[in-house]
Amino acid sequence: MKPINLFEYEQAARQKLSPSAYGYYAGGASDEITVSDNRRAYDDIQILPHVLRDVSNRDLSTTLLGQQLDFPVVIAPMAMAALAHPDKELGIAESSKQFGIPMCLSTLSTTKMEDVSATGVNSWFQLYVHKDRGLTRELVSRAEASGYTALVVTVDVSVAGYREYLVRNPLQLPDGVGLEILTDYWNRGEYPNINAYVAAQFDASLTWEDIETFASQTRLPVIIKGILRADDAKESLNRGVAGIVVSNHGGRQLDTVPATIDVLPEIAEVVNGRCDLLVDGGVRRGTDIIKALALGAKAVMLGRPILWGLAVDGQAGVTDILTILCREFDIGLALAGCVSSTSISRDIVRRRI
Ligand SMILES: Cc1cc2nc3c(=O)[nH]c(=O)nc-3n(C[C@H](O)[C@H](O)[C@H](O)COP(=O)(O)O)c2cc1C
Repeated sequence: MKPINLFEYEQAARQKLSPSAYGYYAGGASDEITVSDNRRAYDDIQILPHVLRDVSNRDLSTTLLGQQLDFPVVIAPMAMAALAHPDKELGIAESSKQFGIPMCLSTLSTTKMEDVSATGVNSWFQLYVHKDRGLTRELVSRAEASGYTALVVTVDVSVAGYREYLVRNPLQLPDGVGLEILTDYWNRGEYPNINAYVAAQFDASLTWEDIETFASQTRLPVIIKGILRADDAKESLNRGVAGIVVSNHGGRQLDTVPATIDVLPEIAEVVNGRCDLLVDGGVRRGTDIIKALALGAKAVMLGRPILWGLAVDGQAGVTDILTILCREFDIGLALAGCVSSTSISRDIVRRRI
């Protein structure tokens, strides 16, 4: 039977994927407490709907960084889509284009960055800063030259999180699957697995000064991804970022950090509209998007469900995931008494009592 929601998609994807690919995609750090908290926190927020507000015409669109989005969702950067399906990042790009939403491409992509932007999707580039700053600068220049519209600097991977399934089963890439943006480094075959690559190449010495330097050296707007504290959000603003993604990396980095939706309100308060705010982690229902927007985000990033769609049916599966989520969001908006993504007020959510 065809899956009808994002949870069923995960179950269907699990049947299709190798245990190691499923483990790599689904898993989180240590006891996976943050992975479950990301979900539970959404369930603990209630929507208190308005009625009789003429919701016959609804506008799902929004703007981020001055860009028009048809739906307040951005595809989160995720490594190695080729483990899910041969359509890989190109399938995700085509679906995102169809939905009028940006796709953020991971540095650890299994497709060349130029091939993704050539699809015509609004593409953002996610940067993992490498110790080799020459390579890092080259990645940014390539993104600028090939039409990327934002640079997303991920700051919560000073080292790879402690994921026990990877300790037991280090992820080996199957023959023919490579890190296509990092061919010079990865394809030399020096690294037995991805964790070894991260440990050897990612720069754990990164500081706020580096963020300021990146923001001043590129003409792309810089979005910082991986903020969980209000004081760090404030520092991000001081360093010239155009956007912040409140993220705990889907619970894959440091376990027992808070659910992102729980820290969003305090971060939204200090940001106070001075840059664009996104949140990710655990978004699985249209109502989750309503909650995130009510609590101060302009859009959400969607992670694992995209890989579940890809694993089940390639590009068509990704399109189905976005169709389901978009439909749920639209129904939720109407029933909550809201007419647009940009007019969801704080008073429509409250904590479960
Ligand atoms: C398989 C996988 C690979 C990921 N790779 C990256 C990455 O390369 N860069 C990055 O910034 N975040 C990466 N993330 C984190 C996502 O961008 C995002 O923060 C997270 O998945 C959101 O949570 P969700 O999966 O619950 O929606 C990855 C997540 C997963 C599940």
